[in-house]
Amino acid sequence: MQPRPLENSDKINYFELGRMILEGENLSDKFFTAHVEWGEWKEKTLPRLPGRSGRIGFSDKQVKFPKMNCLHEVEKKALAIHSFANHELLAIEMMAAALLIYPHYTDEDVRFKKGILSSLKDEQKHLLLYIGRLNQLGFEFGDFPLNDFFWRQMEKLKNMAHYSSVMALTFEAANLDFAQYYAKVFKQMGDEETASILETVLEDEIGHVAFGAHWMKKWKGDKSLWDYYQASLPWPITPARSKGIGFDPQLHQRAVNDPHFILQLCEFDDQFHITKRSGKSHEGDKS
Ligand SMILES: [Fe+2]
Ligand SMILES: [Fe+2]
Repeated sequence: MQPRPLENSDKINYFELGRMILEGENLSDKFFTAHVEWGEWKEKTLPRLPGRSGRIGFSDKQVKFPKMNCLHEVEKKALAIHSFANHELLAIEMMAAALLIYPHYTDEDVRFKKGILSSLKDEQKHLLLYIGRLNQLGFEFGDFPLNDFFWRQMEKLKNMAHYSSVMALTFEAANLDFAQYYAKVFKQMGDEETASILETVLEDEIGHVAFGAHWMKKWKGDKSLWDYYQASLPWPITPARSKGIGFDPQLHQRAVNDPHFILQLCEFDDQFHITKRSGKSHEGDKS
């Protein structure tokens, strides 16, 4: 599958592009791409759910991420890749929503949105890579249930700082660890194809987290980035969500470039484990 080309003109208003991606119901709509003209912001309210129909529709069924020692089985491997692909699609839709719902009045606002659009295009690339790999394994995107977990946070993100805290500094930040971790796992299993996709995703995601950190630093005023980040996170999301399996502070530092922030993040981890220690597994924290 290739991103859908625009047929009639080279340029399209940001609003039409955002709407096509967010409200389009087919997978091809989610790959829509074009040169964007920004123009004035047009008010738009957040839909309850992104447009989805047929095999990419949302499901209430819960599917467990496969256990590590099963990932060599083709179906389990496909399920893992499908889960990564689902996150990419949700990121595409949340980014399209961000282009639409947050006002842009100044050149600076438009620059921020250009950054979102650049991340969105990377997410389209990631989704395409994962779908390509699924196809090689004999599966299609939509063969397993698709959840809306990340999307459900969107209504709480009332401004660009909320959005950047959750999308870049939390979800994409956690994805740094997950991508690094699973790239190693698949490499050790001899699956170079999947490993190299995860490595590509990792490099791009470092840029996406850095983008969010850059803007949060601009907006934070006198606060530290850490305080501003925490103040911008909607309940019940905590910084614990910004760490994935094999949390690697150096990797986060590469993206965030704020040693104080990384130190606080490490310490928060300690507090989290102390307060949550109950003898149970923390597996459920990953989503
Ligand atoms: Fe991505
Ligand atoms: Fe991303």
